[in-house]
Amino acid sequence: KRSRTRKEPVRVLITGAAGQIGYALSSLVGHGELLGKSQPVILHLLDIGTATEPLNGLKLELVDSALPLLTDVIATTNLTEACTGVSIAIMVGGYPRKTSMERKDVMAMNGSIYKMHASALEKYACKDCKVVVVANPANTNALILSEFASSIPRKNITCLTRLDHNRALGQVAAKLAIPVSTVKNVTIWGNHSSTQYPDVNHGIANGIGIRDAIKDDDWLDNEFVTIVQQRGAAIIKARNMSSALSAASSVCDHIRDWVHGTPPGHWVSMGVLSDGSYGVPEGLCYSFPVTCQNGDWSIVQGLPIDARSRHKMDDTARELEEERQLAREFLQDSK
Ligand code: LMR
Repeated sequence: KRSRTRKEPVRVLITGAAGQIGYALSSLVGHGELLGKSQPVILHLLDIGTATEPLNGLKLELVDSALPLLTDVIATTNLTEACTGVSIAIMVGGYPRKTSMERKDVMAMNGSIYKMHASALEKYACKDCKVVVVANPANTNALILSEFASSIPRKNITCLTRLDHNRALGQVAAKLAIPVSTVKNVTIWGNHSSTQYPDVNHGIANGIGIRDAIKDDDWLDNEFVTIVQQRGAAIIKARNMSSALSAASSVCDHIRDWVHGTPPGHWVSMGVLSDGSYGVPEGLCYSFPVTCQNGDWSIVQGLPIDARSRHKMDDTARELEEERQLAREFLQDSK
């Protein structure tokens, strides 16, 4: 008789778990979409006191789903309990920007949340914890987190731009009426905001360059870019709520590829700490094309960058520098 050795469960934190993304994400995690079909998980679901009831409701539903990979569910409003022993942290929690709020206001609110979460992760999470920030402004929240959780390797703190990457793949596939699985190697450069630059110049569709396949540079340089940049807003308009299913799905893609590696010949987009590659100011959390192997990402090097792309890459870097400046001013004031 073959003995089945069961792997030790991995503890996965989801902050802001009672929200729409948490609802979709916790089910995907329980089905093995985050870490694979043979990896048991213990979900740590954190939310704030006012969300206690829906948070507990989510736990009840997860129990009722009888998911074989889900060893345990800890639903809590206690930050220490939530962070203890986690080796994956998915940071969805944050203050959403209301119509009456300036970027600066939301930056201030989220700056203090991310500083607090950073300290808790630093104290209680596993030292090699992998972190992905989803809450906006995602890149700058990740930067704050990395500054205040200095014992967690900086390489382990990332932000989500896989959603934008998947949106770009989806648009190319729809334009060509081909399966999305035959499109690869688009790149999202920069900020997860409307200044991001979705770049198809090195992308492949059905085995040939995307530009050669689509044969419509005007569409690719204008409408396509705008659709991807504005997709988050289009979803909010359509649903009266921000994207949740697609966000959750792309979180799973982000972590799974990071942990298990990207397939040969494929790259994906991740918001990572810039090492100065492609002339992007060092230290910004900027979305790059990356490949992953053995649990580490590395930036794809040597892609030729034309003048049009250069300009767009610099614009989104400039916005990130402004966000970093705002965050620093706020955090300085709050000391
Ligand atoms: C998204 O990309 O769907 C969200 O970041 C949009 C938003 O502003 O909440």
